[in-house]
Amino acid sequence: MNETVAELNPPPRILMGPGPVGVDPRVLRAMSMPMLGQFDPAFTAYMNETMELLRRLYRTANRWSLLVDGTARAGAEAILVSTIAPGDKVLVPVFGRFGHLLAEISSRCGAEVVTIEREWGSVFTPEEIEAAIRRHRPRLLAIVHGDTSTTMLQPLADIGPICRANDVIVYVDATASLGGTDVAIDAWQIDAASAGLQKCLSGPPGSSPITFNARVADIVNRRKHVEAGIRAAGVVEGNGPRIASNYFDLAMVMDYWSESRLNHHTEATAMLYAAREAVRILLAEGLEACFARHRIASDALTAGIAAMGLELFGDQRHKMPNVTGVMIPAGVNGEAVRATMLNDFGIEIGTSFGPLHGRIWRIGTMGYVCRKENVLHCLAALEAALRRAGFKAQVGAGAGEGVDAALAVYHGEAAARMK
Ligand SMILES: Cc1ncc(COP(=O)(O)O)c(C=O)c1O
Repeated sequence: MNETVAELNPPPRILMGPGPVGVDPRVLRAMSMPMLGQFDPAFTAYMNETMELLRRLYRTANRWSLLVDGTARAGAEAILVSTIAPGDKVLVPVFGRFGHLLAEISSRCGAEVVTIEREWGSVFTPEEIEAAIRRHRPRLLAIVHGDTSTTMLQPLADIGPICRANDVIVYVDATASLGGTDVAIDAWQIDAASAGLQKCLSGPPGSSPITFNARVADIVNRRKHVEAGIRAAGVVEGNGPRIASNYFDLAMVMDYWSESRLNHHTEATAMLYAAREAVRILLAEGLEACFARHRIASDALTAGIAAMGLELFGDQRHKMPNVTGVMIPAGVNGEAVRATMLNDFGIEIGTSFGPLHGRIWRIGTMGYVCRKENVLHCLAALEAALRRAGFKAQVGAGAGEGVDAALAVYHGEAAARMK
């Protein structure tokens, strides 16, 4: 290798996989703003503003709405390790890869983990979850909202009230749904939730917006043990078991994000700028408008896919509006199609894991990338790539049908086309 390394110059791509997606240029610009000291009043004011923006995004009055530095699973891990005491029973409904992840993290926290499973491509009914709660009597339910591995969206509105009635704490992984569809924390009685920036929030991976209510804060504070070097005289510690992680200790993180501003980690300045700008932009667009933009992209994409003679994956009544699973047609090399799309069109679409490996592609229409022109480019590229891979569309579906069908949705002509 040369002694010098070439200037960083990533190839231009349209990121239409399950995340990360292209970052809004305004977020990139915010990240290049000058550093501030972490206790500079200008910076702590940005922290407070970020908390307020997160409350609006999560539709909650929760005081504790803040950022955990790290990718989306950092937020999940912070909530779980701070809430679960060794020996606690945790119920995890698994309908895709990320349910398995929540079960794994809970087990590393020392929980007695019970899982219930649904076939990938489906979701749970509230009755199934209620029955499992009554059978297993967990202390905490950890559940994914939108699981990008299957493209399914678990309805949650009834789950929170079931948990509240049974005195179960409910934590939701909203990584892939927040900003793309409603996540109504207070209305749904969700106790804690976490997300990442790199999907519908149009930011880079590396910051995890979380929120939790007073029920969770009380549990965490009962386990509060402050680092010796920063412990002030008179600080009240909890008598519960010490939280196993220092970095993800939400008791200390709360101290850092509150008026006491007790030093914990050094806040990731540029990531805070990114999160603040990403959420500010989203709220300026409006939650409902943003959800509608994701919904129409999903409708247009799925209409285009169907018009091409391809099959969609999973129970379409519960499809996420921001990720679409497409069955790879028999005889077509899915990886060759992805390679054509990347190398010839500069468009990335996703592969899949576990039982779906080699069976579906996952196409993301999220955040800044979720725009009409990208949906149309993607369909045109997919049609061309499929033809090169030898795919013969079903009778009636010819070249350009997918793009036409998507365009008709965007122009409000869908009903006319279906006649
Ligand atoms: C639902 C869900 N949870 C968690 C994660 C993990 O996120 P990260 O890779 O940012 O840690 C992802 C990433 O795709 C996800 O879709």
